[in-house]
Amino acid sequence: MHSTTVLVAAFAAAAYATPMGSGSWGSSSTGYESATWTTTTTSSYASGTGSWGSGSGSYSSSTSASVVPNPSPSSGVVAELLTADSTVSRFKDIQKEIDAGDVNLKFDFNIAANPPPAMPGKGGQVDLANRANFPILTDLGISAAAIFFNPCGLNTPHIHPRASEFLTLATDNNLLTGFVLENGLTTEFNTTLTKFQGTVFPMGSIHFQQNLDCTPAVAIAGLNSEDPGASSIAQNFFALDSEVIDATLGFPKQIDGSNFAAFKKAIPPPLVNGIEECLIRCNISY
Ligand SMILES: *[C@@H]1O[C@H](CO)[C@@H](O)[C@H](O)[C@H]1NC(C)=O
Repeated sequence: MHSTTVLVAAFAAAAYATPMGSGSWGSSSTGYESATWTTTTTSSYASGTGSWGSGSGSYSSSTSASVVPNPSPSSGVVAELLTADSTVSRFKDIQKEIDAGDVNLKFDFNIAANPPPAMPGKGGQVDLANRANFPILTDLGISAAAIFFNPCGLNTPHIHPRASEFLTLATDNNLLTGFVLENGLTTEFNTTLTKFQGTVFPMGSIHFQQNLDCTPAVAIAGLNSEDPGASSIAQNFFALDSEVIDATLGFPKQIDGSNFAAFKKAIPPPLVNGIEECLIRCNISY
């Protein structure tokens, strides 16, 4: 059941409100697990003790051997699509690009199909389909992400400057999520998702997701911009001038000129290992 098919299934579930195949949702005694998904499962990721991406015991090699990298559109393609006179002429261009193998109609979220992040985090990986790497999104105002969490993996607090996000957990896990809206309402909104449950993060809100389990988790998110962007709060705050940071923080005794660089350097790239309670419970060194 745990397989790349789960991702496909999550999209299918989002796209079609009606049952698929011969199975059924909800209260029927014919559970969808046996009736629908398992029949389409072709490959599975190893049982729950490994991790996604760059962690130990990576799953990336256990996904189907047919995973090929998503094509990188050649330069100028998106610019051309952005200036098309009409949607019809834009899609005629897209058709030509598809025929040339420059653009795909399908985006592959498998880790192996996506370039590794410049600074890989220990907690997992986010694969985002946006206008730049999936140009068919041009002018459609939508994008999507798959988030692969290692055991305990934390997608650290960040904002999307141009999109709200609807995130759904696709695997059998517990995923703690939370957001702070903006000045004027800074109490944290939080909830814990289980399999096939989703929640929303309003545009510009500071939000995070924390896998509470000792097994990997996968979430799928839709964002209402083809170029949602992301800004990691801690990482980017400490990219500012140190004098400004020091003053903003009220000149804390713990950070000053002598250790500021070391403090800044110690901030890991997202996704990070996870909260301490989880790491201890799952016996993960940090
Ligand atoms: C959830 O939010 C409340 C405030 O609304 C906060 O007190 C609590 O610590 C949060 N819980 C978690 C687990 O983040």
